[in-house]
Amino acid sequence: MNEFLLNQGVSEKLLDELDKFRKYYNLADEVKDRVPNPHYKYYGGEVWEKSIAALLGGYNILLTGPKATGKNILSENLAQIFNRPMWNMSMNVTSDSSSLLGTDTFVNNEVVLRKGPVYSAAEYGGFAIFDEINMAKNDSLSVVYSALDYRRVIDVPGYDRIFLDEATRFIGTMNYGYIGTKELNEALISRFLVIDMPSISESNFKMILEEEFDLKDEYIELFVRLFMDLQKKSLNAEISSKPIDLRGLFSSIETMRRGLPIKSALDMGIVNKTFDQYEKEIVLDIINSLFKDNTDPISIFK
Ligand SMILES: Nc1ncnc2c1ncn2[C@@H]1O[C@H](COP(=O)(O)OP(=O)(O)OP(=O)(O)O)[C@@H](O)[C@H]1O
Ligand SMILES: [Mg+2]
Repeated sequence: MNEFLLNQGVSEKLLDELDKFRKYYNLADEVKDRVPNPHYKYYGGEVWEKSIAALLGGYNILLTGPKATGKNILSENLAQIFNRPMWNMSMNVTSDSSSLLGTDTFVNNEVVLRKGPVYSAAEYGGFAIFDEINMAKNDSLSVVYSALDYRRVIDVPGYDRIFLDEATRFIGTMNYGYIGTKELNEALISRFLVIDMPSISESNFKMILEEEFDLKDEYIELFVRLFMDLQKKSLNAEISSKPIDLRGLFSSIETMRRGLPIKSALDMGIVNKTFDQYEKEIVLDIINSLFKDNTDPISIFK
């Protein structure tokens, strides 16, 4: 992984410090299986450098950006390279302080606290992910404000005082494209360093196809052209951003590997992401100009 990060442009100095971090902080046996082992690597040197530097500095980070820009993938990759257990919380209108910190339950007629994800992350030096943090109910996060700033403690009446382990970090993700997203509270944002996630570069996109999908070179070129053409059309406002879906494209390629014809696979992953007939046709035109109907899907892989 260090070699991959060096290739991505992360400085040796940061990687040295990362090594020191990993050696310094103990990982308890009972949470070893919480260190993620993500399916994909995150590609993007500048984002890697920013996020590693911020987390080494003891800060929390907020990853913001459009859909499928790798916010969750990066979070998992970060917990992996820092060798920390991860707790993921999907924030929504029903999450409240007890779903974060814990709830009282009865065991043998005694009240015991069933620890919530923030509690466990605080205890084990974990990485706690507030996923879609902007979907959280107003103020449900206010109980953790003191944990997110220099105080690094959670002090809620009725709970023990929870001091954060030194290795504990918080990562928020938010997609500013979703309908229904709330403006994030300024006091909350102020507790994070914010990383705006760029859409993927052509060279990184190509590298993912090469390294994660074992496609033949000519097909790598075609998928790169497809994605870049779609992006260009979207930038020129000829189509919306709905079909620009990296997640959908990767899933399509996975189904091609299982033998589904290229165009059927792209229908599901790209074309049908828009519900506008006119837009669908523009997308189909691009696909038809690049791919033939009768290509055996298995033959596109090495
Ligand atoms: N820079 C990148 N490097 C590697 N994979 C990427 C990158 N950007 C997007 N992806 C791919 O896009 C897909 C979606 O990634 P992820 O779920 O992390 O996105 P997200 O930003 O959390 O999206 P959303 O806002 O929709 O939740 C994954 O298949 C991931 O591999
Ligand atoms: Mg996400």
